[in-house]
Amino acid sequence: MADIHQVNDLISIEREGDIALICIDNPPVNATGQPVREGLQQAIEKLNAEGNAKVAAIYAAGRTFVAGADIKEFGKPPKVPALPDVFNVIEDSTVPVICVMHGTALGGGLELGLSCHARIGIEGLRVGLPEINLGLLPGAGGTQRVPRLAGIPMALDMSLSGRMVDAKEALEKGLIDRLDQGDPRDVALKAAQDVLDGTLQTRRTCDLETPKDDTALDETAAMLRKKQAHMFSPHKIVEAVRASYLPRAEGLAIERQAFIDSMDTPQRAGMIHAFFGERAVSNIPEAKGDTRPLDRIGVIGGGTMGSGIATSCLLAGIPVTLVEVAQDGLDRGIATITKNIDGAVSRGKLAGDKRDAVLGMLTPTLAMEDLADVDLVIEAVFEQMDVKRDIFGKLDSICKPGAILASNTSYLDINEIAACTKRPADVLGLHFFSPAHVMRLLEIVQGAETAPDVLATGFALAKKLKKVGVLAQVCDGFIGNRILAHYSKVASYLVLDGASPQQVDDALEGFGFAMGPHKVGDLAGLDIGWMTRKRKADDRDPAERYAGDVADRICENGWFGRKTGKGYYLYDSGAPVPNPEVATIIDEVRADKGITPRTFADEDIIDRYMTAMISEAARVVEDGTAKRPVDVDMVFLFGYGFPRFRGGPLHYADSIGAAELVARIEAYAKEDPHYWQVPPILARMAKDGSTFADLN
Ligand code: 3HC
Repeated sequence: MADIHQVNDLISIEREGDIALICIDNPPVNATGQPVREGLQQAIEKLNAEGNAKVAAIYAAGRTFVAGADIKEFGKPPKVPALPDVFNVIEDSTVPVICVMHGTALGGGLELGLSCHARIGIEGLRVGLPEINLGLLPGAGGTQRVPRLAGIPMALDMSLSGRMVDAKEALEKGLIDRLDQGDPRDVALKAAQDVLDGTLQTRRTCDLETPKDDTALDETAAMLRKKQAHMFSPHKIVEAVRASYLPRAEGLAIERQAFIDSMDTPQRAGMIHAFFGERAVSNIPEAKGDTRPLDRIGVIGGGTMGSGIATSCLLAGIPVTLVEVAQDGLDRGIATITKNIDGAVSRGKLAGDKRDAVLGMLTPTLAMEDLADVDLVIEAVFEQMDVKRDIFGKLDSICKPGAILASNTSYLDINEIAACTKRPADVLGLHFFSPAHVMRLLEIVQGAETAPDVLATGFALAKKLKKVGVLAQVCDGFIGNRILAHYSKVASYLVLDGASPQQVDDALEGFGFAMGPHKVGDLAGLDIGWMTRKRKADDRDPAERYAGDVADRICENGWFGRKTGKGYYLYDSGAPVPNPEVATIIDEVRADKGITPRTFADEDIIDRYMTAMISEAARVVEDGTAKRPVDVDMVFLFGYGFPRFRGGPLHYADSIGAAELVARIEAYAKEDPHYWQVPPILARMAKDGSTFADLN
């Protein structure tokens, strides 16, 4: 009979002679929720009080070591014991405590290891301090103990990037003392034996001094002031790492205060919404259940989109048959895919020695009949219904029974496409975002007849491609592009009425968007929007104020943005400079329309833009195009560069409140009652005081 004492449900102590093995068993990821903290503290106190164990080894059960503090506890009243206090108890233990880490040791998980007297990694281990991705900083000694063990530059790098450090680097940098193989319990037992034999040394991290590096601290602080002025926790990280020069208690106190201050910010709430939202979008019945195979995928179209989709599949290890109509198109597709794969190698996303094997999984062809054996086809050709009809009709007769037929259309009616086949249940929309091998969003569009296992396979594909699959219903533009089509008009109205394109961009970049809408237009190519406006010219609602006057005039000059060197901005000298000729166009358009320009404060620009986005997002939730507000939020975070720290448009909307949003819309409607209309859902929320979070 093994001698096992259960400290509580999640923590046990197993005795093997002089050795005590402390096991953490808190599935799925051994997060350090309150019972784990309490159990660990009690285990160490018990061993020290009894005094008959000569060494203790902490390890974890299941697929990974500790993934950090329990994120679900954040934002709620804190429960004792606090993590840093537990780790001090471990570090101060007179019985030496070692730690064996496998899988991922993140945040509080790594900090637990650092408070032990020696650390052993199991092959494949990755460690990291990802708190910054949650709007936080390491709050249980990470900013104090990493610099002591691995130096200030490494501590700054890890806690400011949140990146995962592999076992080899962790060993080189001194974060772990040894790398081993095997089952965590066996490794823990052996390592504890080595401590007793004197072949594994133990020491307290707090007894080490942080090697001084004021230059790294000062340069990083200056860089952050310049590049991340609007963020809260990065600046606190530098302050806390600097405090690692101080004795443990003083340094930890500074770290603790910075952690508590970060916890109070809306940035933390937004980023934690993003963390759970990313997982919630596929935590729905439609994403679960039986799936169909995904052993070979066909992609039709070797343009930017098709090549990006093919690249994404190849990088996920799925063989691809790429179909084009003409040899030059096929050659271009192959060249783009090769360039994308080479890019993945140079960015460290793919090991160089795997490049040829990955490219070897691509079968280019001019014969659509070669799609006879694929499990899923993704069509990525022109956005023209007659072209799609023709392709889906052919696919229906070529593809094997049970094969899934998907369209990457960004706005066309999936039901109309499905109707061209005798198997509408096998048809769905898979809407990728450009560049498709980089952008993580995948809208999974459910047709009226899409079979449940076809939909679930869409989610399985998203997972394989490491994308965030979001369920959307059929409508013009689905979730993202439909909302975009609405709010992008506001940017044009603001310019017509008096703001400059640069002011609009600057204001929205200040809000947190990586690029303002005019810079995005220049990057994507202004001709794309121009073509759409021309296509939709006949359907234009005469009561709606036209938003394309300035953009049309720019395009008529052949200025399509970056690719022509000229758009809203000039790109001759690298950094964009406002195009003075655009200012003249704007003046002329205003004069034609009899508009007297007025000034807009940056706040006003942000409020109008965001209120427009929220209005259409609310309608998308109300009519069921998106299942829940969180689905809209994730579409914007992963497909539209929405600032992660704001959580998404509807999470942000809750911070404003429905009543205020309604008041704003009513005020704007005095200028343009056609465009600004209160969505009924928002009116109801303003009345009953409910929030979008209530609908998640
Ligand atoms: N707290 C609570 N729940 C967590 C969690 C955590 N730290 N980490 C993961 N989970 C949950 C997920 O929400 C998910 O729940 P679900 O099944 O109900 O959706 C489940 O655990 C499994 O997670 P994943 O689906 O993400 O599993 P993967 O195997 O893909 O990834 C992982 C595992 C790499 C550990 C990933 O979950 C991860 O990155 N977790 C977050 C790590 C992190 O940010 N840690 C820092 C926390 S803050 C901290 O420690 C503060 C400290 O300094 C004081």
